[in-house]
Amino acid sequence: MKIKVFENYDELSRFAAEVVKETINSIENPVLGLATGSSPVGMYEHLVRMHKNNEVDFSNIISINLDEYVGLDGSHDQSYRYFMDHHLFDHVNIDKSKTFVPNGLAADLEAECVAYDQRIRDLGYTDLQVLGIGPNGHIGFNEPDEKLTTRTHVADLLDSTVDANARFFESRDDVPKQALSMGLEAIMGARKIILIASGQNKAQAIKALEDEYITTQVPATLLKVHPDVLVLVDKEAASLLNR
Ligand code: GLP
Repeated sequence: MKIKVFENYDELSRFAAEVVKETINSIENPVLGLATGSSPVGMYEHLVRMHKNNEVDFSNIISINLDEYVGLDGSHDQSYRYFMDHHLFDHVNIDKSKTFVPNGLAADLEAECVAYDQRIRDLGYTDLQVLGIGPNGHIGFNEPDEKLTTRTHVADLLDSTVDANARFFESRDDVPKQALSMGLEAIMGARKIILIASGQNKAQAIKALEDEYITTQVPATLLKVHPDVLVLVDKEAASLLNR
């Protein structure tokens, strides 16, 4: 795992977009694992700009997203499907039928999870997985716990995560308390991973990535055993690092 510190969020976002661009331009049919949340918004903005400048072509891409809230329709402005359409898919030449986000409205959520994992395996896992990180160290919605789940699953959100995400909703009560999330197998199956963190509230979680231990209580620490992980942080998120 390498940690790279940037002067500001825009530089970080530009670099992240370059990594995505290189992946897209160097692989015939790239499979991208994509993330939502505020962290990758700048990266998507740069990718849209690059696309408009003819630097990157999305026509051969297959994308598969990390997670989705249970109970939100894709037209709900806080659903992760809506986020992806709004921040990327509607602005580039991607074939939307090849963009996958878990269906949080599936009648049988368990079957949806099994099918999602099967799809990831059939695709041969991702060439690049983009991740954010929760203030508590969660990735996707793999929350700190004694045990983590390998497969795509229905995750109960911790109160701290509901609090952290409440800023996007009209009230805390509107935040779904469950989500569908890729498990550790799909995330770790990526050939390359970039994790984006910005802001002081991520500093504690990023500090845990600098030390040598892994713990399910900070799920992102498991990424340390993956051979190709690049952690991209701004100065605020890096503020507790020793280096
Ligand atoms: C959310 C998402 C994660 C995201 C994280 C950080 O709960 N499930 O995929 O990385 O929290 O979000 P943000 O980037 O908005 O801080």
